[in-house]
Amino acid sequence: MSETLPLGLDELLTTTRSVRRRLDFSKPIAREVIEQCVEIAMQAPTPSNLQNWHFVIVRDPVKRMALADLYRKGREIYVTLPSATANVDFGDPARNAIQQRIEKSAQYLNKNFQEAPVLVVPCIEGRTDLPADAEVPGWGHVPSVLLQSAQWGSIAPATWSFMLAARARGLGTCWTSLHLYFEEEAADILGIPYPDVMQACLLPLAYTKGTNFRSGKRDPLDSIVHWDDW
Ligand SMILES: Cc1cc2nc3c(=O)[nH]c(=O)nc-3n(C[C@H](O)[C@H](O)[C@H](O)COP(=O)(O)O)c2cc1C
Repeated sequence: MSETLPLGLDELLTTTRSVRRRLDFSKPIAREVIEQCVEIAMQAPTPSNLQNWHFVIVRDPVKRMALADLYRKGREIYVTLPSATANVDFGDPARNAIQQRIEKSAQYLNKNFQEAPVLVVPCIEGRTDLPADAEVPGWGHVPSVLLQSAQWGSIAPATWSFMLAARARGLGTCWTSLHLYFEEEAADILGIPYPDVMQACLLPLAYTKGTNFRSGKRDPLDSIVHWDDW
């Protein structure tokens, strides 16, 4: 196993941030380090122990640029939406200021995405975007929410484990999804069999500039925890 940072478990869980501006594009990442992160990710649970996830590790600069261009094309659509980071008004100046900082950081990543030495595309066998009445391979007719839960409940924890394992090794990541406006084009670039395999996100992966990160600001506990009743 490669060396890990001296972080407590709670510290790891609370300081694994969406890293953009502090990605160090100049430092290469050894293959074994990435493999260790994937091995850790594979300890996440899957329904029926299917283990139907895949991680496409993209080092090729031409493919990185092609994926970054798709991301940028997706972000052009996203920034026009009311839910885009820069357009949301929480009615709270402090929270709005955080949004503006995130937006600046997101603009930086948008411009420099291809510079990350590695891009990671976590994938899962089986799509969730089927017509409502479709028979799902291996599942038959299943409520959409159950299929969504099975698929996202498999790939999201595994991806988060990958991100935690990366942070433990001095690497930064950021869950991004905007290239999925053009998922099929990304599948073509990477040879992913689109009808059978769904991409979950696109992670830049790079060593971080410095390894100290703070916890993010979050809403008060009692606004999200519901004891016995909503
Ligand atoms: C499902 C999901 C999609 C996201 N998509 C993007 C994205 O496309 N681009 C981006 O820069 N950040 C994206 N993020 C990162 C969030 O903006 C980030 O979590 C937020 O800035 C809070 O930062 P923190 O995680 O460091 O607290 C995404 C996060 C999640 C969970």
